[in-house]
Amino acid sequence: MAEATSRGIGPVILLGSPGAGKGTQAKKIVESYRIPQISTGDLLREHVQRGTPLGVAAQDVMARGELVPDDLMYDMVAQRLRQADCERGFILDGFPRNPAQAGWLDALLEHEFFQNSQRGKCLPIVIRIDVDYNLLLRRLTGRRSCPVCGRIYNVYSQPPRVADKCDVDGSTLVTRNDDREEVIRDRLTAYEQKTKPVAEYYARKGRLVSVNGDLPVNQVTEQIFKVIESQRAGAPGDKMNQG
Ligand code: AP5
Repeated sequence: MAEATSRGIGPVILLGSPGAGKGTQAKKIVESYRIPQISTGDLLREHVQRGTPLGVAAQDVMARGELVPDDLMYDMVAQRLRQADCERGFILDGFPRNPAQAGWLDALLEHEFFQNSQRGKCLPIVIRIDVDYNLLLRRLTGRRSCPVCGRIYNVYSQPPRVADKCDVDGSTLVTRNDDREEVIRDRLTAYEQKTKPVAEYYARKGRLVSVNGDLPVNQVTEQIFKVIESQRAGAPGDKMNQG
């Protein structure tokens, strides 16, 4: 496993179907590379909880397992990426979700980040976590998370030490509103139809790397760290000026 480092690694984009392990792996990258995880699903759920206009607009769409309209996503994502903690890099988990969002992100990085960055042009590392379709239902129906610290569990594969309680802070674990079987099927369909082409978008640009997400969590993490290290090998800036 990579040791904690303060080296900037630029943007990392995690792709993969619902339940593939994007959130789980993003937290491992946060621990080791000290860059923030930006989960658009978590940001939206916070808006829903706070009852903001964005939350009100997104709530029903999310409950149906569909995608929130792009124009609602862009402001939220741009505002988050402009925060100072993103300067050395960030992990996008759940964004981009369709080719239009991918094009929008490229333009934002080009015009706001690369031009102002002292590191030069630091293209995103794009990693897709591939998981067998038959495993996804079990991962999603078994998922529980801590409403306080955000830690993710699974009653089948990553159970807490005490049933329904977070190992870290003892909070009662919760099940996500969209982790019901009837909604899961619609989320998987939305992924097949709208999000799969995002991988093709990055593959055409020669930026897509896939890892085997069927393996245990730590083995998936090892593959991801290898990709990050190989793409950011050498002094900061080396490979960051490509493209
Ligand atoms: P979002 O929150 O992004 O959900 P998602 O993409 O459906 O992904 P998940 O969070 O369900 O899965 P994950 O890959 O993070 O898996 P996890 O690590 O938790 O989006 C929710 C909704 O918000 C969308 O439906 C949409 O409405 C809206 N939205 C979000 N972004 C949007 C955008 N850009 N545009 C428009 N709308 C947007 O793992 C799952 C389970 O598996 C856990 O229990 C975990 O413990 C377990 N697990 C993980 N890895 C392993 C492993 N290797 N082995 C065994 N178990 C494992």
